[in-house]
Amino acid sequence: MSVSTRSRLWLPFTQMAAFDACERTFVRASGAYLFDARGRRIFDAISSVWTNVHGHCHPHIVERIAEQASILDHATLLGATNPVAEALAARLAEICGLQYAFFASDGASAIEAALKMALQFWQNAGEPQRTRFVRLRSAYHGDTAGAMSVSDIRLFKERFGAITFESRAFEESDAARGDDVAAVIVEPLVQAAAGMQLASRAQHEALSGMTPLLVVDEIATGFGRTGTMFAFEQTALRPDIVCVGKGLTGGTLPLSATVVADRIYAAFLGAAHEHRQFFHGHSYAGNPIACAAALASLELFERERTLERVAGLAECWSRQARSLQLLDGIREVRSCGLMSGIELRTERLAASDAATPAWRVAAGLYERGFFTRPIGETVQFVPPLCSTPEELEGFARALAAVIA
Ligand SMILES: Cc1ncc(COP(=O)(O)O)c(C=O)c1O
Repeated sequence: MSVSTRSRLWLPFTQMAAFDACERTFVRASGAYLFDARGRRIFDAISSVWTNVHGHCHPHIVERIAEQASILDHATLLGATNPVAEALAARLAEICGLQYAFFASDGASAIEAALKMALQFWQNAGEPQRTRFVRLRSAYHGDTAGAMSVSDIRLFKERFGAITFESRAFEESDAARGDDVAAVIVEPLVQAAAGMQLASRAQHEALSGMTPLLVVDEIATGFGRTGTMFAFEQTALRPDIVCVGKGLTGGTLPLSATVVADRIYAAFLGAAHEHRQFFHGHSYAGNPIACAAALASLELFERERTLERVAGLAECWSRQARSLQLLDGIREVRSCGLMSGIELRTERLAASDAATPAWRVAAGLYERGFFTRPIGETVQFVPPLCSTPEELEGFARALAAVIA
C-alpha cells in the first residue's frame, strides 16, 4: 500500500510509508459514527482519541457554534475579556470546586501552563527553590517539552532529551517531600496513554496529604468518561490545579483550561512594577466559538442526564468485559466507567501483514465497522457517552469474532 501521491498531509504518531489514505479517510460524522470516503459507517470506538462526548455533530453544540461564530469569532484574552470565556471560566471553576480558569487550546498546552504556573507561583510566594516536578510511573501528559518532561513513556520521549528536564517518580521514596518540590502531577484513576492502566487508589490517598501543590490531569478522564464528571471526585485527591482539554468542547474544537485554587491566583496579584502576572499565553486562548461549544456541551450533561446514562452503560460494558476476559486471546480487560483497555495475548495471535497482532485486530475491527487504535498490546475501547448498550455489545461481539 502506498501513500496517495497527492497527499501533502503528515499525520501524528503514524508511519506514513505504510499509511493508505484510501483506506482511512473520514468525510463526515453523526452521533457515535464516522463515515469514510468509501461510504462505510464506522463506530467511533475511541471517541476520536477520547475527545467526543455526546456524539459527533450534536445539533445543540453545532447550533451554539454557528450562533457564536456570527456574533464574536475571536478576540484576544491578552488584557481583554469576552462574555463567553467569562461564563465558561465561572462554570469550570464551579464544577472543579476551584476558583479561576486559564485557557489554552490542546491538552499539552494546559499542562505547560500548569507547570509554569507552579514555578512562578513558588517564585511569587518567596520559595523559588521549588523547581522539581514529581509524576507517577507510566505517566503521560502530552507531547510538548514540559509535558514530555513529566511523562514516563520512554518510546515517546527518549529522542527528545535535549529539550526535556528531569522529573522524579512519585514511587521513589519521599520523592514528593522536600523543599525543592514544586508540584506533583497525576492522572486520576486511569493512565490512558499507558494502555488504560488503572491507578491505585491507595497511591492517590498517599498522595493527597503529602504534596505542596497537586496538579490533577483530567484531560483524558474528564467530562464523564470514568462515570463522574471528573475522575478525581472518586478519589482522595484534592487538587490545587485541574487541567482539562479533549472533551471540554464535547470533542468539537480545540480548547483546554488550567483551573486553579484561589491561593494560586492570589499569588499572581500585585502592582505593575512587581511583574507578578503570569508570563504565559496563547493567541487563541478563550476563543469564544470554542467556549460556546464547551458551554453547550456542559448544558447537555444536564439536559441528557449524561452521567446517569454512563452509569448504565458502564454496567453493561462490565458484563461484556467479563465474557471477553474468558477468551483465550485476551490477557486482561481493564475498565473504569467507559474507558477500557483489552490487553491481548499477542503471543497467541498472528500479525499477518499488519505491524503487530494488536494492529491486525484493530484492522479486523475496522472491517466489522469499529474504529480503534491499539496501544502496545492493548486494544482501546472508549466509546462516546451517547452510545447504546447494543453498540457496546456489538463491539464485544466483533472483538471476540476477530480474535477467534
Ligand atoms: C492524560 C493526558 N494528558 C494530556 C494529554 C495531551 O493532550 P493533547 O493531545 O490534547 O495535547 C493527553 C493526550 O492523550 C492525555 O491523555
